[in-house]
Amino acid sequence: MKIDDIRLSDYGKASSIPAPVNQMMTDFAVGFRDGYDINLGVGYVNESTIPRLQIQTACVAVLANPQKYRASLNYGGAQGSPNLIESIKRYHIDNKIGGITQDTFSSREVVIGANGATSLLESITHLLPTGIVITADPMYYIYCNDLERKGFSVITIPEDNEGLQTELLQQRLEALSNSEKSAIQFLYVVTVNNPTCTILSNNRKRELVEIVTKLSREVGHKIPLIFDNAYTELVHDDTVEPLESASCYDELGIVYEIGTLSKILAPGLRIGYLIGPKGSFLNSIVQRTSDIGFSAPLINQEIASYLLDNGIESQIEKVNSGYHQKSEQVKIWIDELLGDNVQSIRGGSAGFYYYLTLTDTPTDSNSDFFKFLTRTTGHVDIDGPTNNPNPKVIYIPGEHCVHPNGEMVDVGKRQMRISYGFEELPHIHAALKYMKAAIDSCD
Ligand SMILES: Cc1ncc(COP(=O)(O)O)c(C=O)c1O
Repeated sequence: MKIDDIRLSDYGKASSIPAPVNQMMTDFAVGFRDGYDINLGVGYVNESTIPRLQIQTACVAVLANPQKYRASLNYGGAQGSPNLIESIKRYHIDNKIGGITQDTFSSREVVIGANGATSLLESITHLLPTGIVITADPMYYIYCNDLERKGFSVITIPEDNEGLQTELLQQRLEALSNSEKSAIQFLYVVTVNNPTCTILSNNRKRELVEIVTKLSREVGHKIPLIFDNAYTELVHDDTVEPLESASCYDELGIVYEIGTLSKILAPGLRIGYLIGPKGSFLNSIVQRTSDIGFSAPLINQEIASYLLDNGIESQIEKVNSGYHQKSEQVKIWIDELLGDNVQSIRGGSAGFYYYLTLTDTPTDSNSDFFKFLTRTTGHVDIDGPTNNPNPKVIYIPGEHCVHPNGEMVDVGKRQMRISYGFEELPHIHAALKYMKAAIDSCD
């Protein structure tokens, strides 16, 4: 008798096919030759920014002090380690991050995710009803892909050099019917955007809070405005205005800010946190964290707490000076090698991505440019021998970063995100030279 395969939910069905970027990165990773192939696609941090010795010291210090760091190899609680929660509060208050003060925490709480900021973002998809989510275009494709697999409709609003364009957002909201407006479940805004590294200006941030406050009043319930601050501490250009925390403008209690220690310490610690108004939404996030295996491993949380209490400021300075140097050098090479072929460029002041719009070279995964760089043209003079191809280069094509139903779909086909985080400068230089050769061969 014929037996059908396992019956999957809609989410299960959608997830059984790998997301396009995952598939692309997996294909590239298979047979990746260290020191030969060049990965400008991954969001990995630079290995040399990870403070290995300090992490080792922190681990010893935590295990040696069971009075303060209680049962650090046991299960933790759902909200997170009380030590880490205190350290995060103190870190924000002492460093005046975004203007946060002691007072901010009288109405707000910190919760630690199960597995980085990603797990908190994922939890939100289970706690709010499916419906519309509004975000910027280009978008953080990893999360937007997750949202759509879970049945949310993502509406994207193009960004300019100050981030999500609030005027366009207002126009879009005005064009929505009442029932569409009430289907808006939340807004998701990445303050240093991934993929573009565009910094959301303080003005825009304030306007966003005002717009969503007004919208909440209009529909009669609070609409969460979720800011993803994954790269906020990685502003490495002194000319940028100090970034304010959106919590400081939030009178209604709709602003939730998600942070992570991945970019300033180590992604492997898997410490992400959320600061938000006390209330049922926050409580539901804590319960959800409990449901999926509690907050991050307690030993990691205690190590993170120790690191935040001991020298985090100099660690952040070190990380930023490394990325700043790289961003300047990479920009010089982009201008030198790709100058005439680049229509516009974003990034360079924060994070570790440049987002390029090429003048007329398609970058999508079927393009000649992509095939040249992945050595899949079928021409031996470009690809090299089948058993040992010429060096391959990977980047994230813009087609995956813009929303397929959004306004940027056409321009996205000649855009790309390149990361200067993971690879070292000589490799990035080599990759840009291959890109130049790829463009020339497309002419
Ligand atoms: C915008 C954004 N949010 C969240 C994350 C993930 O953070 P975590 O490592 O804490 O899960 C990333 C990682 O690249 C990111 O780019």
